[in-house]
Amino acid sequence: MKKVLFNELYYQIIWFLVGIVLLVDVSCASFNPSSYKSIEDCVSATGVSVISKNDPGYNDARVGERVRFQQYPRMITYPTNTTQVQQLVLCSNTFKITPSPRNGGHSNTGTSSLNDSLVIDISNLNSVDIDTVSQTAIVGGGIRLGPLYIQLAQKNFTFISGICPTTGLTGVISSGGFGLQSRKYGTTGDLVLEAQIVMADGSILITNSIINADLFWAIRGGGATYGIITQWKLQLIPAWQTVTVFTIEYPYDPNLFSSVLKSFTNFGHIAPDDLSTTLFITNTNFKIVGHYLGNDDQIYEKLSNASLLTYNGSPIKGCDRESIEQNFLLRCDHLGARAYFLDPNKTCTRYDYLNIGTSPYASNSFTYTIQNVTYPPAATAPGVVTQGILSVYPPGPLQAREDVKTKSMYFDGPFNDTAINVIIGLLKQMPSGSFAELLSYGGLLPTQSTNLTAFFHRNVAYHLLIQAPSTSDPTTNAWINQWDSNVRPFSNGQSYQGFEDPDLPNFPQQYFGNNLQRLQNIKSKYDPQQLFSSQSTLNTTPSNQQTSSLFGQCPFVHDEAVPARRSSGNKMFNLIIWDKIMFNLWVIVIFLIW
Ligand SMILES: *[C@@H]1O[C@H](CO)[C@@H](O)[C@H](O)[C@H]1NC(C)=O
Ligand SMILES: *[C@@H]1O[C@H](CO)[C@@H](O)[C@H](O)[C@H]1NC(C)=O
Ligand SMILES: *[C@@H]1O[C@H](CO)[C@@H](O)[C@H](O)[C@H]1NC(C)=O
Ligand SMILES: *[C@@H]1O[C@H](CO)[C@@H](O)[C@H](O)[C@H]1NC(C)=O
Ligand SMILES: *[C@@H]1O[C@H](CO)[C@@H](O)[C@H](O)[C@H]1NC(C)=O
Ligand SMILES: *[C@@H]1O[C@H](CO)[C@@H](O)[C@H](O)[C@H]1NC(C)=O
Ligand SMILES: *[C@@H]1O[C@H](CO)[C@@H](O)[C@H](O)[C@H]1NC(C)=O
Ligand SMILES: *[C@@H]1O[C@H](CO)[C@@H](O)[C@H](O)[C@H]1NC(C)=O
Repeated sequence: MKKVLFNELYYQIIWFLVGIVLLVDVSCASFNPSSYKSIEDCVSATGVSVISKNDPGYNDARVGERVRFQQYPRMITYPTNTTQVQQLVLCSNTFKITPSPRNGGHSNTGTSSLNDSLVIDISNLNSVDIDTVSQTAIVGGGIRLGPLYIQLAQKNFTFISGICPTTGLTGVISSGGFGLQSRKYGTTGDLVLEAQIVMADGSILITNSIINADLFWAIRGGGATYGIITQWKLQLIPAWQTVTVFTIEYPYDPNLFSSVLKSFTNFGHIAPDDLSTTLFITNTNFKIVGHYLGNDDQIYEKLSNASLLTYNGSPIKGCDRESIEQNFLLRCDHLGARAYFLDPNKTCTRYDYLNIGTSPYASNSFTYTIQNVTYPPAATAPGVVTQGILSVYPPGPLQAREDVKTKSMYFDGPFNDTAINVIIGLLKQMPSGSFAELLSYGGLLPTQSTNLTAFFHRNVAYHLLIQAPSTSDPTTNAWINQWDSNVRPFSNGQSYQGFEDPDLPNFPQQYFGNNLQRLQNIKSKYDPQQLFSSQSTLNTTPSNQQTSSLFGQCPFVHDEAVPARRSSGNKMFNLIIWDKIMFNLWVIVIFLIW
């Protein structure tokens, strides 16, 4: 018996040592960036796909979903494994070219594709490895929400995060992350167990609640400027048996606005944790969309009790029980989000709508000029890669890029009559193409400490999002700006860090509240040279000066416009090895104690 146990001890020690060797092996000790003459040579030596300013496809590759702020990076690179990310960061550091880590490309201000920067687009790091026993997954830092939800749903799991399938998971977590089930399960960042980060000096750090715990705290809601996250370990949620998704379509009658808005803000934040409601208003449409983790038997009565179905004591036309039940999307398999609404037939099993590729956006209509040539030259602009990540489904549809201006505000409780009157005044003047969306917080969130992670906005009742087309039309501009001047005074002053807004007078405080000082300390500790910097970083010291010519000849020829699908390489390597090492270590320790 004892002999067997000691054999086991040797076995564990050997695996421990092998693991350590493997971890060391994946560092990039053999890569010497200072032996190259230029950042171009350095990047070329990494072997990654790269698109430079003169290449066809540059105009589509440089921007993501949001195009209001046009930026012109020096190069866009597409690493396929963590080692390449390390090498690119070393090139960036050596030649003092700011790196722009990019996951989903949803930044409002284009911070993932900064002027003259080296974009490190990690969308090829998109693997998903599920452990059904521990109910966890190790996923690549470049995964987008759509493909993540599909692969989890195939194993009867889900995760709590946003509703847009093209959004990158890492971007969501770095903002905190709110999903329609956050009222019950917490934010996206709350469900993260571990991360692997490539730091400014090219090294890899593992972070979790024990190791580098301060950094682990910061990367969940504290912005995306600490390093490049190449892997996450996630705590999964077993998919619910029954989910009810519903819509209450109100008649578009401005007289109803104030009655519904008042009832809504009295109810949404104190509703049961299983029920999430959002009020959504455009200039033609006025509705509540909801999501309930259970069946529909009680929902009508709850909404009715909350006065959301009556006006001056009488039932609202079209909001009777029968009409609402027709809108119920009954008992769908759950895909993790409101992704259902992307499916016009509401069949809930149309995974293809979520099967988003690495470059899912439609062609960028903006033109730009370099050396008297206007790009994109129509004849040479290539098509955009649209194939989905999962070959078993048809690819998701091409996603539109958006040229929009947005506002985000948080409210601590129900809206009072003065606030409601001001808001109704603006809703009545809403320009076409705009919307207002009011999300209910509450549930679990206010019971948590606002410093549980770097995501500060837990003790709030509502999150208001306003979006308008970004245009030179003075009426539209004035309209969205009035939300700042007229409505923000009723809010608690905070703003969601995932909706960067350059108009905010004191954005670090408004995004991070009382967590700001601690985040600044962590940023100084882990990136003292401020290699990762953008207009939204915590410490606004200007980044390193760019030295060489911006529009120099690019000596490389690239066949592929936008690099394509996932590589077959093993991208799970490090966290998995790390977890094995830790496991072996514990077994050894237990043996030794015993
Ligand atoms: C990026 O460069 C473009 C073109 O030179 C310029 O219009 C834009 O203002 C720059 N953006 C920032 C944030 O500096
Ligand atoms: C990273 O990818 C490159 C190119 O495919 C490959 O040569 C290299 O071996 C990979 N490195 C690791 C550690 O997987
Ligand atoms: C998922 O759950 C369904 C319904 O309970 C079951 O039929 C199916 O086998 C499960 N799939 C997996 C991969 O466990
Ligand atoms: C609705 O209100 C009635 C009367 O206050 C109460 O008895 C009932 O339990 C409520 N229903 C729900 C589903 O909350
Ligand atoms: C929705 O259903 C209709 C009727 O069955 C069908 O013709 C149509 O193609 C479907 N649309 C999509 C996007 O699946
Ligand atoms: C750009 O246009 C100007 C004026 O037409 C001309 O003088 C200059 O040589 C052109 N530059 C290039 C690189 O073609
Ligand atoms: C976090 O907040 C709690 C109160 O909710 C406080 O006791 C604790 O000291 C705070 N921790 C830090 C590191 O600020
Ligand atoms: C509503 O709240 C604002 C401040 O948030 C306050 O100035 C105003 O007097 C309140 N109005 C009413 C009717 O209570």
